Amino acid sequence: MEYKDIIYKTPVKHGLINYENTYKDFNWKNINRYFDHFSGDGVNIAHEAIDRHAENSCKDKIALHWEDEDNVKKQYTFSDIKRQSDKLANVLRNLGVEKGDRIFLFLPRVPELYISIIAIAKVGAIAGPMFSAFGPEAIKDRLHDSEAKVLITTPELNQRVDEIREVLPALKHILLVNAEHNLKKDEISYESETNKASESFKIRWVDPEDYLFILYTSGTTGKPKGVTHVHNDMVSHYITTKWVLDLREDDVYWCTADPGWVTGTVYGIWGPWLNRISQVVYNGRYDAEKWYSIIEKYKVTVWYTAPTALRMLMKAGDKIIKKYDLSSLRYICSVGEPLNPEVIKWGLRVYNLPIHDNWWQTETGSIMIANYPCLPIKPGSMGKPFPGVCAKIINAKGKELSPGEHGLLALKRGWPSMLRRIWSDKKKYNEYFRISGWYTTGDTAYMDNDGYFWFVGRADDVIKTAGHRVGPFEVESALVEHEAVAEAGIIGIPDTERSEIIKAFIVLNHGYKPSPNLKKEIQEFIKKRLAAHAYPREIEFTKDVPKTRSGKIMRRLLKARDLGLPTGDISTLEE
Ligand code: PRX
Repeated sequence: MEYKDIIYKTPVKHGLINYENTYKDFNWKNINRYFDHFSGDGVNIAHEAIDRHAENSCKDKIALHWEDEDNVKKQYTFSDIKRQSDKLANVLRNLGVEKGDRIFLFLPRVPELYISIIAIAKVGAIAGPMFSAFGPEAIKDRLHDSEAKVLITTPELNQRVDEIREVLPALKHILLVNAEHNLKKDEISYESETNKASESFKIRWVDPEDYLFILYTSGTTGKPKGVTHVHNDMVSHYITTKWVLDLREDDVYWCTADPGWVTGTVYGIWGPWLNRISQVVYNGRYDAEKWYSIIEKYKVTVWYTAPTALRMLMKAGDKIIKKYDLSSLRYICSVGEPLNPEVIKWGLRVYNLPIHDNWWQTETGSIMIANYPCLPIKPGSMGKPFPGVCAKIINAKGKELSPGEHGLLALKRGWPSMLRRIWSDKKKYNEYFRISGWYTTGDTAYMDNDGYFWFVGRADDVIKTAGHRVGPFEVESALVEHEAVAEAGIIGIPDTERSEIIKAFIVLNHGYKPSPNLKKEIQEFIKKRLAAHAYPREIEFTKDVPKTRSGKIMRRLLKARDLGLPTGDISTLEE
């Protein structure tokens, strides 16, 4: 396939066949008919994703092909997942878990993570998946704010929770995976409890508007926000998976994202299983050879990954690719950061497939703007709005801008998977809707004459590094906890591989001198305390950090100075 070919339409026989007509006639209500139980008696996404498949001719279909770094492999059919999640649901119910309780997960990508998320939905509780690279500070923020009642983790990861245990009075039980001995007072063995539990569980039917999961994500100010989603999200999960990821019954699908991030929860659990798809989970770090071997071994047909991973694979070179048989691949998608046209060009050469970029956020709960199989791709563009989604470029007053004009990317509120709440912070929730009728995304973009959207940047100070969303305030707060640091300002600076990397400007306390060792020590401190992915790869020691007269760090100014850009209005700068 040539680069120029992907800008022409190729005939499509499955899924979304005609974008324009579907967009014109689309009604979300028509999607409800794809579910078994979308009625007045209540709903439950876990029934739609697992139980209904386990109860019909698909019961022996593989739901999960699992493999870890040490080549340990496991397989689960839809009925295996049903049985194991029913047992765990009984354990949770016996522990006194009730509808609406928060159950947090701090696990690597082990099968128990996937089974737990299903079980939590079955009891009507709210799942809070956390990325396993988090340190005690990040865990505390989440467990404390959500008042989590149960935590499911491993003995190893639990050591990070031990440090903060006493500031979490709401946390009643810790279920430990792979820990048979030496349990403390409130600790329970996952295996021994589930082994004892009954296989029969009566699912809790809930209202579509009842909460399903909370994912904490970063903004410019304050601590991470608990973005809360509901069972009704299934409407969006189901149909976006079908039409954007183009999944069909016989596909083998691999989403490389961790469920600690929204892509891993929505398109690594709910979306594919609602569509009864066999999926692959690899529990290990990125490694080019390992990744290609996964595609070869499981004959992956559809692959959903991120631009940083693709850029790393591009750097790993073409020679490696020749060692593996990747001929099973038929469709590739990417999300989370800008996907540069060079990567698409490279993908066409080495995989003989175009990479389909799409855009969404933790808050939107499902893909909002995408490239589809039936539409020509314009390399560098995020594509067009999903049917039922009205995306526009507006100014700060809510006026719609013309094609080509840069402005705020906004969505007409009301699609099924829109966030319903910021846990414990109504004000933060309302901020998304400050422009009447619109959900504001925090991104800037433009739309071209053909209705394609192009990403420009963030309208705020949020950093995207290797696909991970990081709030400058969280890193600054963690930095000043280090004894040498008096003040810190955080910005994202462009990076060819990771989109952005985190740079810290640090004012040292009296008695400390800048040195390469001190830099290293501070970086390790953040990796351990906050999160392994959120440490500043660059540190500059400075005499002061520019602030407004009211004491706010002027990150825009730091960034402009660092990148040699115009500094803009600095009239509020503190003298
Ligand atoms: O800035 C946009 C960027 O990622 C942000 C959302 O991050 P998060 O909530 O972590 O969700 C990421 C995965 C769904 C957006 O506000 N972003 C997401 N997709 C793209 C993107 N930037 C450019 N191109 C994309 N395709």
